[in-house]
This record gives sequence, structure tokens and C-alpha cells, in this order.
Amino acid sequence: MKPLLFALPGNTHLADSLVSQLDAERGTLTLREFPDGESYVRIDSPVAGREVVLLCTLDRPNAKLLPLLFLARTARELGATRVGLIAPYLAYMRQDQRFHEGEAVTSRHFAQIVSLFADWLVTVDPHLHRFSDLDEIYSVPNRVVHAAPLISQWVARLNTPVLIGPDGESEQWVAAVARAAGAPYLVLQKIRRGDRDVEVSVPDIELHRSRTPVLVDDIISTAHTMIETVGQLKRAGLAPPVCVGVHAVFAGSAYRDLRAAGATRVVTCNTIEHETNAIDVAAVVGTAALELMDRSPGAQPGEAGSVSSM
Ligand code: R5P
Repeated sequence: MKPLLFALPGNTHLADSLVSQLDAERGTLTLREFPDGESYVRIDSPVAGREVVLLCTLDRPNAKLLPLLFLARTARELGATRVGLIAPYLAYMRQDQRFHEGEAVTSRHFAQIVSLFADWLVTVDPHLHRFSDLDEIYSVPNRVVHAAPLISQWVARLNTPVLIGPDGESEQWVAAVARAAGAPYLVLQKIRRGDRDVEVSVPDIELHRSRTPVLVDDIISTAHTMIETVGQLKRAGLAPPVCVGVHAVFAGSAYRDLRAAGATRVVTCNTIEHETNAIDVAAVVGTAALELMDRSPGAQPGEAGSVSSM
């Protein structure tokens, strides 16, 4: 029997390509909120004896987590053989240490909850900083897909780009994108004083003055990191930059603010649906999911361990 893919609200943009790539059928479900704020969850397609794939990107995760858990648990109760989760954006990866006394290391707790209900996990460029591998916190088989090769293809179309990473954490993405695009890169220094208080140092960019600056970061959330960098580049007399983010989180007015700050173009991958999506990750995500899915009686899917898929 074909697997069933259920796309949660806000995930339909990736669903069609994944259904065809996974040779799956589209499942239907009903999700709504009771007047008291509790969730109503109903699986409308028969799942008995079938592998279930839940497609749910995890920006704004708090409201999504419980319905996901209810869905996964219900699918298993109704006889699904396994329930995998494709979460193109994986939340809670940045609170990966106790920065101040008493703080929750939410990366760990979130990972434990997801590992309770998902049999496997596929995601795109999780913010791995102090954890070097998802296996340090997730106990289910997983695949990490890297967007760098796709971003490089997009960047290579620009006229003499110079890639710019706003901080040391971004070097892993910027270096990979630059290498594949055959372009130079610079990494700046960032000091974050608060959620919306970010200072980025001015680099020595004289060598690259004639090039098109392309800022690359994994997450654009408040956009303050990019806004500060755009401002510094402007003050240094560079051309207005193109901003490329893997994940279009865009909290509040972040997108408008970034455009107003002077970004000529803002481009993101379609891990979170947004008008800036220009880089399609569906094919690489589908390939990674296929590696974890139980596609034949003799298959041995889900060996523990995260493997990077490029
Ligand atoms: C942080 O380390 C990440 O790589 C991004 O630089 C950060 O999440 C961006 O956040 P914001 O858009 O709020 O400045």
C-alpha cells in the first residue's frame, strides 16, 4: 500500500511535489480549535497498515506541536505502520545552552517531545551550533538536508557576487555556498545584546568593492542581524546587497523592515511558505525522506543516525 502524506495547514506548497516523489497518496484530516483553545484532530483517510508522513514546518512551533503529537499518536492507534515527520524548518534549535542561570535548554526538551511521536525526521539546515549533530538531542533516525548547493546555483546567476556571512555561526553556510558558486566570501562579527539589539562589525571589504554583496544566513527572524549588516555595508559604500536566507521565519514586520533598510532583493528557500521563496527544496527533501521510509518488506529503514543529504 502506498504511504499517506498529510500536509498540515501552511504546508501545501511542498505537498504536491512530495506526494509524487514519495509515490504516496494525499491524506485528509480535520484540525480545528474548540472555543476553549483545545485542539480537535480527526484523521479522515484510512491509515491502517500504511506508512504515514506528516509534513509540517515548525516555525511558530507552540501551536503546532500538540496537534502534531495528537495526529501521530492517533495514526499509530489506528494502525499506521510508522509515522515520519518532514519538518523543513526545525524550531527551538537556537536555545541550545543555558545562557543564564535557570533558563530552559529548549532544544533538548523540544527534541525529546518530537522523538516521542515521530518514528523518523527529515529537516533542512537545522541551526546546529553548539550541538554538532541532531543525534545529540533527537533519538529517532533523521536526515539533514543542506540547502547550500541550491543556494549556490541561485547565487551563481548573479554578476560577480561576494558572499557575506553576518556572524561566525553563518560561516558553515556561507563557505559552502561560496565554494560551490566559485565566489569569495567574508564573515563578519556579531554582538547580540538582546532579541532586537544586534551590532555587526565592518569588515575590510576593499578587495571586493566592485562585487555584488550577497548576505547569506540560515534564519531570518527579526531580521535585525541582516538589517544591521545591510546598514554597515551601506556605510562602507558598497552596492545594496541581496539577502538570502534558508528559513523565512520573518517575525512581525521583519520582512518590511529589511526591505526598508535597503535590501534590493530578499530570497529564501521554501522551507516556510513566504513571498520571498525562490529556491525549491522539495526534491532534496523528498530524496532524504525516501531514505528513511519503509518502501519494501525487506527494507531496513530507520537505522539510527543522521546522514547529511546534499
Ligand atoms: C543566529 O545565530 C542565526 O544564524 C541567525 O543569524 C539569527 O537567527 C537571525 O536572527 P534575527 O533575524 O532575529 O537577527
